[in-house]
Parts: sequence; structure tokens; C-alpha cells
Amino acid sequence: MSAVPAPALVDRYRTRAPRYTSYPTAPQFRAITEAELREPLSQGQGPVAVYVHVPFCQRLCHYCGCHVEIRKNRDLGAEYVDAVLREAALWRAYQQPGRELGQLALGGGTPTFLRSEYLSRLVDGLDAIWPRARGAELSIEVDPRTVSPEELDALPKIGFTRVNLGVQDVDEQVLAAVNRPQPFPLVEQAFSVLRGAGLSQVGVDLVYGLPSQTEASFEATLDAVAGLRPTRIALFQYAHVPWLKPQQKLIERFARPDSDGRTHMWALAREKLGGAGYVEVGMDHFALPGDELVSALENGSLQRNFEGYTTHAGLDLLGLGVSAIGGFDGAYAQNTKDRERYAQLLGEGKLAVERGVLLSADDVERRRVIMSLFCNFTVDLGNGDYDDEKARLGRFVDDGLVTIDGTRVSVTPAGRFFIRNVCAVFDRYLEADVATRRYSETA
Ligand SMILES: C[S@@+](CC[C@H](N)C(=O)[O-])C[C@H]1O[C@@H](n2cnc3c(N)ncnc32)[C@H](O)[C@@H]1O
Ligand code: SF4
Repeated sequence: MSAVPAPALVDRYRTRAPRYTSYPTAPQFRAITEAELREPLSQGQGPVAVYVHVPFCQRLCHYCGCHVEIRKNRDLGAEYVDAVLREAALWRAYQQPGRELGQLALGGGTPTFLRSEYLSRLVDGLDAIWPRARGAELSIEVDPRTVSPEELDALPKIGFTRVNLGVQDVDEQVLAAVNRPQPFPLVEQAFSVLRGAGLSQVGVDLVYGLPSQTEASFEATLDAVAGLRPTRIALFQYAHVPWLKPQQKLIERFARPDSDGRTHMWALAREKLGGAGYVEVGMDHFALPGDELVSALENGSLQRNFEGYTTHAGLDLLGLGVSAIGGFDGAYAQNTKDRERYAQLLGEGKLAVERGVLLSADDVERRRVIMSLFCNFTVDLGNGDYDDEKARLGRFVDDGLVTIDGTRVSVTPAGRFFIRNVCAVFDRYLEADVATRRYSETA
């Protein structure tokens, strides 16, 4: 499964395109009011998914593209949790009664910046607002460098069922170049403590395209990480967006893999992880057979949202905390990124939503197409008027990347590398956007 896309193809299709964690994508968001969200919020039914953004980290990784705030004082967590719980109660008031919590994800930043007692207060507080649905998944992103064994041990007791460890790379030189000193034994220890505590669902994040990374160093990273048998591996291509994240300029003095090198790393990961028993899920995830992502892939229920791929089809997603994005049937909503303003608005009993978009019928239909392609690599266009798009897919068909059979569009194994390009064909806003260079390169 390791076919390396030909360099000429990669060159031909290189462009800037979104990762489609939403459609329409964030640049289409505009100022939106609480009143406009009332209707989409009141329509939803069934369990809700909740994402809580915890922006704090103790040290800045120079590659980081997330919304973070560097702080040393972990006591800040107490007031932040209180604000998030106030926010949750405000959202709840707009919803129909009787809704339960189907999925909770804590991301960031570094959610384990919150001491165990604050994490407990957060989970218990959310439980009081949305009773937990049977089989609910509670996941948390963990930085192995800044969490103690006691704090790891507490996670399943607090209620977490899944942990995602930010590893990124294991090579000392790479980690030094990105300001993330992280001896590998720390990662091994995190695995052993979590498993000892009875938590078996442990995933790992890796990034390729980082400074000082070579194919050989990356191969060693893949071997070391696969050897720990995480149930999931997320493999992100490094997004270099220094116009948005100025600290990324600091790594420009180191050599970074070029497009050819990155393409080889991607192919190498597919080959090595496939050989180690992992199933490729969507664009950038791998999971062991038996993991829910693999079952969702097999039964066509895989979904995509701001956290990447998810198994919880069709749940309303509420985003709590600074900068968090939520998505419901007819709208997306993003909170302010300013923590003081966030606290102030909630103190006044108002939601902290700043931007968002109400979806037109055309947006909803295109979202269906793009999400299906991104998750399942195939879509039935149904009765939609997609003559233009089919014509624009002609060159993908000629290059063996896509097949079109009546109303069914499918991405071939060779075309998977170009999935962002394929989806971009169905994005009616993209052309105007790309001129402003707001996305990272596709390859
Ligand atoms: C919130 S962090 C994970 C938790 C924790 N803060 C840590 O670093 O261990 C989310 C993930 O986003 C990925 N990431 C961050 N910046 C990125 C970038 N510029 N390009 C691609 N992936 C990135 C990393 O893999 C990282 O683990
Ligand atoms: S990668 Fe994780 S720890 Fe590093 S700055 Fe970003 S969010 Fe914080």
C-alpha cells in the first residue's frame, strides 16, 4: 500500500487547501449573534458531543499551530473550569430537554494543565448538565512531558476512556529544533502507567515534515511508536503557517523535508504502519483492527469534525472554552479567542460566540459530499447539479486519482494523497480564499 505518488503529480496538484474539518471552512465565518443560533440549537435531538478547549501550555513548541497561551501557574485552571461550566449551562438552556452526553473531548493547548481536581470538577459539572449516555466516550489530549504518573493514573478514575498522547517525533535533534525536549522513556512510562490504570485506548499524534526530520529518523520514530502498540496513530503533515503562528519562523533556520521528502515519509508511514497491523482510516489516521474508527470505516459511519475523525455520527458538537468551534445541523459557531473577554461575557451570562456561519441548503449538501469523500473516499452525488465539478474532476480521472461512475465519485488508492484537492473541487468558496493564502500547502 506504499505507492509513492509521482513527483510530477505532486507538483501538478500542489496548492493551498483546507483540511475540511468543517464546510464551509473557518474563513467563511462572520460575526454571529447568540440570537441567530437559537433556532439551530433548539432543533437538535439525541446525545450531544462536547469539545472543551483548554488553551494553556507550559512551554511553546515552535511548530505549534493550535490556539495556546503559555502559563506556568496551574492554579489558573480553577477559574477557567468555572467559566466553561457556566458556558455549558448557557448552551444547555437553548436545547430541548432530556439530551445526554454522547462524547466529551478535551483538547488544547494541554488539557492536563488542569490539575486532577479541576479535571474532576469539570467532568462532574458536565455530567450534572448532560447525564452521560450509555457507552459515552470521554477523551483527553495529554502531553507526556508535563503530566505526573499520579495524574495519569487518575484519568480513568475521573471518567476518561481514551487518552491521546502528543508525541510528534522521538528523535532528539528534531525535538530540539522544535523546542520540545521529550526523552522517549517519558512516553514509554506514560503508556505503562495508563495501561496499569486500566486504560487501554491510548493513541499517539505524530507530525511529518518537521525541521531536521529525515526519512531515516522518521522511520525510527515510526518503529518506536508502533512498538508501543497505540490503538490509534494520528499522522499530521506539518502545517507551516508563520503568517498565523509567528513562532514558526523560528524553525525556518533548520532544514525541513521538501515536498518530495514529505511524500516519501507519508508513503513510508503507510507501508510501515500497514506492516505493523494498522488500518488506514481517512486521510491521516491509522488504527488497530477492533478500534471503533476501523468499525466506523467499515460500516460507512465515519465522520469528520474539528478533532479529526470521529465515530459519533450526526451528534451536535458544542465547542466550549476560548476559540472552540461547535457545529450543528444548520450552523457553526466559534468562541472568542480572547480569554479575558471570554470570562467577561460568561460573567455577564452571555455566550462567548464571536463568529460562525448559518448553513444554506447548498452548504449542507456540499458538506455531505466533502465529508463523505474525506471519510469514505467515495460519494453518491445523487440528484445534485454537479456538472461543473465533474468536468473539473476530468484531470483527476485522467491521472488515475478518481473514478466517476454515473453519480458515484470515488477516490482511488493512488488518489488518497490528493484528497484535499478532490474535496476542494466541491468547495464553492475556495477560489476567492486561496488568493489570501490562508491554508497550508497540500503537499
Ligand atoms: C493540542 S496538541 C496535543 C496535546 C499536547 N498539547 C501535546 O502537544 O502533547 C494537538 C496536536 O496537533 C498537532 N499539531 C500541532 N501543531 C501542528 C502543525 N503546525 N501542523 C500539524 N500538526 C500540528 C500535534 O500533533 C499535536 O499533538
Ligand atoms: S504542541 Fe501541544 S504542548 Fe506544544 S505548544 Fe502546541 S498545544 Fe502546547
